[in-house]
Amino acid sequence: MRQSLFITFEGGEGSGKTTQINRLSSYLIEQGQKVVTTREPGGTPEAEAIRDLIVQRDAGDWTPMAEVLLFNAARVMLVDKVIKPALETDKVVISDRFLDSTVAYQGYGHEMDLKDIDAIQKLAVHDFVPDLTFILDIDPEEGLKRSDRRLAGEKFVLDRQEDRYENMELEFHKRLRNGFLEIAKQEAERCHVIDATQDLDAVTEDIKKIVQSKLKVAA
Ligand SMILES: Nc1ncnc2c1ncn2[C@@H]1O[C@H](COP(=O)(O)OP(=O)(O)O)[C@@H](O)[C@H]1O
Ligand SMILES: [Mg+2]
Repeated sequence: MRQSLFITFEGGEGSGKTTQINRLSSYLIEQGQKVVTTREPGGTPEAEAIRDLIVQRDAGDWTPMAEVLLFNAARVMLVDKVIKPALETDKVVISDRFLDSTVAYQGYGHEMDLKDIDAIQKLAVHDFVPDLTFILDIDPEEGLKRSDRRLAGEKFVLDRQEDRYENMELEFHKRLRNGFLEIAKQEAERCHVIDATQDLDAVTEDIKKIVQSKLKVAA
C-alpha cells in the first residue's frame, strides 16, 4: 500500500538523525513506498543557496532573528517545490530537521521570543506541519562526542555560530535538548521522543514500529 506521509527528524548534533533517515528510507523503499529525503536548510537550489549564505563564515554574522527569516525563506521554497508536490503524489517525505529545529535553536538555544518565531513560521507555512516527528534524544555531551567536529562539511550550520559561544557551548546544547523535549510535550501526538543512546538497531526498531503504525505496512 502506498500512501503519503511527511516525517521529520529532529535532535541535537550527533543524535543519529542522518543515520536513521538512511535506514528508514531503505526500509520504506523495500516496502514498496516511494521516498523523498531532504534536509533543512536546503533541498532546492534556492534553499541550498540560502544554506550557503548561513554557513559561510565570511558571509556575515547573522543574528538569530535574521536566521529565522533566512531559514523560513528556504523552508517556503522546500515546502512549495518539493514536499507538497511529493505528498500529492503519494510519496513518503523524510526531512532532516524542519520547523522544530528553528524553535529549538533560535528559540530555546538563543532565547529568542518563542511567540515571534511561531508568528514567522505560521506566516511562512501556515498550518503545514509534519505528520510525524522523531526527536532523537541524547545527552549533548555524548552527542557532540559522536559527531566529528572536524568534518566541517558535514556539520549542521548552527555549529559554526555556536563557535562564538565557546564557553557556554554546553549550556547552549542543554537548552537545545530541553527545547526539543518541551516541543515534544506540547505536541505529543505528532512528536515521538526516541532514546538515541540505544544501539543503532534498537533506535531503528523504535522508529520503524511507529512508522508502521502510521502507514500500516507489514512488519
Ligand atoms: N545509536 C548510535 N550508537 C552509536 N553511534 C551512533 C548511533 N547513531 C549514530 N551514531 C554515530 O554518531 C555519528 C553521528 O551520527 P549522525 O547520524 O550523523 O547524527 P546527526 O545527523 O544527528 O548529527 C555517526 O558517526 C554515527 O555513525
Ligand atoms: Mg546529520
